[in-house]
Amino acid sequence: MACDPLRWGVLSTANIGRVAVNPAIQSSRNGVLMAVASRNEATARVFAEKSGIPAHHASYEALLEDSSIDAVYLPLPNSMHREWAVRAAEKGKHVLCEKPLALTAGECLEMEAAARANDVKIMEAFMYRFHPRTDLVIQMVRGGKIGELRMIRSAFSFRLTKPENIRLKPELGGGALMDVGCYCVNVSRSVAGEEPAEVQAWASWGATGVDVEMAATLRFASGVVAQFDCALTMERREAYEVVGTEGSLFVSSAFLPGTNDVIVEEHHGRDRNTRHAIQGADEYRLMVEDFADCVIHNRPVRYPVVEAARNMQVIEALYRSARNRGMPVSL
Ligand SMILES: NC(=O)c1ccc[n+]([C@@H]2O[C@H](COP(=O)([O-])OP(=O)(O)OC[C@H]3O[C@@H](n4cnc5c(N)ncnc54)[C@H](OP(=O)(O)O)[C@@H]3O)[C@@H](O)[C@H]2O)c1
Repeated sequence: MACDPLRWGVLSTANIGRVAVNPAIQSSRNGVLMAVASRNEATARVFAEKSGIPAHHASYEALLEDSSIDAVYLPLPNSMHREWAVRAAEKGKHVLCEKPLALTAGECLEMEAAARANDVKIMEAFMYRFHPRTDLVIQMVRGGKIGELRMIRSAFSFRLTKPENIRLKPELGGGALMDVGCYCVNVSRSVAGEEPAEVQAWASWGATGVDVEMAATLRFASGVVAQFDCALTMERREAYEVVGTEGSLFVSSAFLPGTNDVIVEEHHGRDRNTRHAIQGADEYRLMVEDFADCVIHNRPVRYPVVEAARNMQVIEALYRSARNRGMPVSL
């Protein structure tokens, strides 16, 4: 079978690659991490040595020319996703690209077109979707465990203390919504099982011009409402609550649960509370293995680009609203 195991290269020495995704590829059952590229040769060399990656390249272009690479993991700043995903596709490389997939829905579709034209696969790396808990919550909601779904509340915040961080740079696609709010939009749409009809958002803008705090409401055609907040300035929180006519579910450590066992709390009234325990899993490893399986067996990826484009469409609408002091924006 072609590409078995999948031979990966990573575009940049990004932190998220170092701490989570590169080790996930290295421990995956169907992939090997062959090479890392950096804008700087010494950075690439030292990173490769420290991470046990056999080869390094002194430019992203050089990695894309490397015929021993089948797929790239792309953790560049958000503003660079479109360009490098397209360039990778044009060189025949499959692409697992960090979230958010691009800056706009239009960019997502350009990436999809490049992948299609070059017969390669592309997927957005929202890893929390591969944790078995996420499927369980959606099954519980669809199965009527909480009655009729009415409300989804989510939050993702942390305090960013490094002024040089890419998240504070508007030219690199920074901002709280782009960095962490995108998870809240994604989980709201996934649990609702539909697209919002109208959104409103209110933001605080930091000194560099990015949104550092945002509170938002998504109204779905069915009447379900989702609310969320996200921030680069607040205490670390990541959780969501799903509320129906007859019960609610609460999910803590919602997006970054680590590998320990996790819980979904199910509440009915005051007294009927159940804690569903789910065995721990490495959501990053599950994601890279699933993506590699799709390439190896030539199956469609689990989350096609059109899904990322819909998420981006909502994000764009939220920014439009936030720039107009909470003006309702229809989708
Ligand atoms: N799924 C997750 O859990 C998760 C978590 C965090 C971040 N992310 C996503 O992953 C991506 C990277 O985030 P990160 O926090 O890992 O970023 P980071 O540590 O700042 O790394 C970004 C890398 O991009 C390269 N780069 C190229 N041009 C750059 C520029 N003008 N400024 C800064 N860096 C530049 C650098 O690599 P070289 O110097 O080697 O070229 C740098 O190491 C983002 O899209 C983010 O949303 C995902």
